[in-house]
Amino acid sequence: MSTWWSRAAALALFALAGYACVEPVIAPEPALILSGNDLGFIRPCGCSKPVLGGIARRGGRIAALRATQKALAFSTGNLVAETGRQQELKLESLLLAMNVMGYSGFAPGAGEFALGLEYLRQVRELANFAFVCANVLVDDALVFPSSVTLPDGSWTFTGLVPADLSVQGARVVDPVRALAAVAAATAATGQLLVLWNGPEDQLEQLSAALSLEARKRVLFAVACVGDAPRPLPGSARAVAVGSKGRDLVVVHTEAEPFWTSVRLEESGPVDAECDAILASYREAVRAEELINTTPRSPAASYAGGKACAECHEDCTTALASSAHMRALRTLELTHDERDPECVRCHVVGFNDTTGWTLERPELANVDCEACHGPSEEHAQTESRHPKPHPRSRDCMQCHDPDNSPQFDYKVYWRKVRHGH
Ligand code: HEC
Ligand code: HEC
Ligand code: HEC
Ligand code: HEC
Repeated sequence: MSTWWSRAAALALFALAGYACVEPVIAPEPALILSGNDLGFIRPCGCSKPVLGGIARRGGRIAALRATQKALAFSTGNLVAETGRQQELKLESLLLAMNVMGYSGFAPGAGEFALGLEYLRQVRELANFAFVCANVLVDDALVFPSSVTLPDGSWTFTGLVPADLSVQGARVVDPVRALAAVAAATAATGQLLVLWNGPEDQLEQLSAALSLEARKRVLFAVACVGDAPRPLPGSARAVAVGSKGRDLVVVHTEAEPFWTSVRLEESGPVDAECDAILASYREAVRAEELINTTPRSPAASYAGGKACAECHEDCTTALASSAHMRALRTLELTHDERDPECVRCHVVGFNDTTGWTLERPELANVDCEACHGPSEEHAQTESRHPKPHPRSRDCMQCHDPDNSPQFDYKVYWRKVRHGH
């Protein structure tokens, strides 16, 4: 089948090999694709380069890999890291995308359990793949199956959360003992994938629960701190899956090294179905008017940038063509102008009751008061300005490491300099 997508897949394999600096290996065994720790990064924001990750690119990459080899996909959880309606929409969209990507299993982690057991049981119905967790119980019954063995017996997968995780309405039991029980109950011929949603420093304790024989057939996929995928030291094979949906880990248990990782770069293939899921997500955020639901704190009144112009013409002129003055337009171009997670940094005073809302469009963009704070009183009375000299920390509420990793006050200030 010499279609455009088998060519794309061949290219993808080269890209994968290039990244890991190894010869492409087509293993006879199905590869394992591992992800997790998405932390709500369902798509890249595009705030800075390089633009990495997102479900559309992940879907495209997985389809490309699958064109040349059999591959099973699993997630170690923490698809989201916060609670609230928007996080639920993200989790649901991610699960639907994982259906499209043909995932086999998912281990809910701290991020999912925080959304509540009842909700989790409901959303499980959306998924075409198994939820597993061997150590969360309600009334002595597991909330999700402790493990699932694939029909061909090749792999058993299980999920574990750390003992100190608190799950409302449930009891978390010792993961070490839970793992020992799973290992004992599974056939010695198959391999065991442990989706561990806990810290890497507890890995050795987990390994110690296994017999020497079992340790040889186990693989830990770990959702732990740290941005990039990496192998984790210890007496059993273990790999950290990375975070924020920027990479995929691909495991070939037969190969050396047993894992490689694939950065989900902007130039990578896009899966149209996953992209459509993103579009529905945006529509849901808009339809549910989440933009009006963010909690806000009381603050002094904002005047709007136009009110400053009459007395500070020089500043207004100096900044008129800066990127700040079209920040909301930027979001309109990608249809994200109703997403509170984006808008909060692209307008004035989003966290204040007196700041931007749909009813106060004059507070759009990163206008004067985004840095100088609410200034209506000053504009009306010419009283001493409350914040004449914003500092770099005022910039960094928006220019944070995720959205503006290159931020350097001196360099950036030069581009938005004004006043004397
Ligand atoms: C924490 C604050 C923050 C959040 C949240 C945020 N942005 Fe941004 N965004 C920025 C900053 C700061 C820049 C400029 C970065 C730089 O140039 O260093 C930027 C730049 C951008 C740009 C690039 C504009 C250009 O022309 O180069 C796009 C596109 C963008 N953001 C879209 C989004 C979207 C979509 C979201 C939501 C998913 C979002 N932003 C959320 C702060 C934020
Ligand atoms: C009616 C005129 C008027 C309006 C409107 C006005 N200002 Fe001012 N502003 C002044 C005067 C006068 C000063 C004091 C000038 C000085 O001391 O150099 C001042 C000072 C400032 C300073 C401090 C400068 C310093 O070095 O101390 C800032 C910052 C400032 N204004 C921001 C704003 C912003 C933001 C707005 C719009 C929300 C605004 N002003 C609206 C008249 C105005
Ligand atoms: C309320 C959030 C916010 C604050 C505060 C903020 N910025 Fe920005 N900044 C943005 C956003 C959003 C963009 C991207 C705008 C776009 O292109 O749509 C941006 C873009 C920029 C750019 C343009 C980057 C480029 O290369 O074109 C510079 C320079 C910049 N900011 C400097 C600063 C400095 C310096 C401060 C502090 C004195 C600051 N910003 C404070 C949100 C903010
Ligand atoms: C991106 C953040 C940002 C925005 C937007 C911004 N300012 Fe400023 N502004 C600053 C910073 C930072 C300083 C102080 C620099 C310093 O301390 O030297 C400053 C200084 C000033 C000063 C005092 C200048 C002086 O000579 O002491 C005035 C007046 C002023 N800004 C007015 C405005 C007005 C009016 C607007 C909108 C047209 C505006 N600023 C938009 C960050 C901003």
